[in-house]
Amino acid sequence: MTMKNLFIASGLSLALLAGCQANDSNQEADQTTNQNQSNDQTNTTSKETNNISNSTNSEDQDNNAKNNEDQEYNSKQSDAKESEENNKADQSNQAAYPTMAETVTENNGQLTVTNPDSIYVVANKERNLPADFVPENLVEPDVASYAPQGDPKRLMVKEAANALEEMFAAAKEEGYELKAVSGYRSYDRQEAIFAYNADRYGKEKANQVSAQAGQSEHQTGLTMDISTPSIGSSLTEEFGNTPEGKWVAKNAYKYGFVVRYLKGKEEITGYQYEPWHVRYVGKEAAKDIQEAGYTLEEFFPNKK
Ligand code: DAL
Ligand code: ZN
Repeated sequence: MTMKNLFIASGLSLALLAGCQANDSNQEADQTTNQNQSNDQTNTTSKETNNISNSTNSEDQDNNAKNNEDQEYNSKQSDAKESEENNKADQSNQAAYPTMAETVTENNGQLTVTNPDSIYVVANKERNLPADFVPENLVEPDVASYAPQGDPKRLMVKEAANALEEMFAAAKEEGYELKAVSGYRSYDRQEAIFAYNADRYGKEKANQVSAQAGQSEHQTGLTMDISTPSIGSSLTEEFGNTPEGKWVAKNAYKYGFVVRYLKGKEEITGYQYEPWHVRYVGKEAAKDIQEAGYTLEEFFPNKK
């Protein structure tokens, strides 16, 4: 069964729930004494649900309108040229990046990635990280953070942390205020988060917004959930409509990041749109991915 079919079969639909970090924080509201944080997150939950069900995004609508227009007026000749260029891009991807097939092993029908410490790792509902995988070189990026001092959520692998610092500094320079909210999570922590969400919302809904243990990019240390104080640093679809969220969508690739869970690609990624979840892949791949408008599942070649 293809991944797409698998997700369809899983009955995924547009999410009605809060995003992964909001759920993460809901759990923490029960577990932590950080009252400010839990209050902020609680206050944003209903807004978040509205945003998700309305699912309106003027930027996306503009893009869609523009795409339709382009399609309408493209001549057959330019279509052919585009297709030739895409083929070239595919060929160059195949040469430059690892294939999906060569970066997994199969054991009893379960796929486990063999490159969990690579910036090109693809972890998803089909491709598990080893349960005992903990990245080396976890450091705290020197950026404004919503997580309390000493919280592992502040951590990222060094290369990604440096890139995050660069991105936050560039945003600040241009007048945008970003906040790091949630980075590294251990396998055990992800397991607890998923169990909490499944218990609270049911497994099907939990699956749309949070990864099961071993399937979260947060375990790789290459990811950071980011937001902005104007929306209470919440991790909601609303972030995508803030100036900061738009800046991130447009510019993150320059610093080696991609927005991992795109709107309109839910059946491919298996998760709801998460404008706040940025994943480090290095500047070269990020540029290629941004230009192609791909998810990681679409970008990394299946075969050589
Ligand atoms: N919210 C993303 C999918 C995660 O839990 O890693
Ligand atoms: Zn995330």
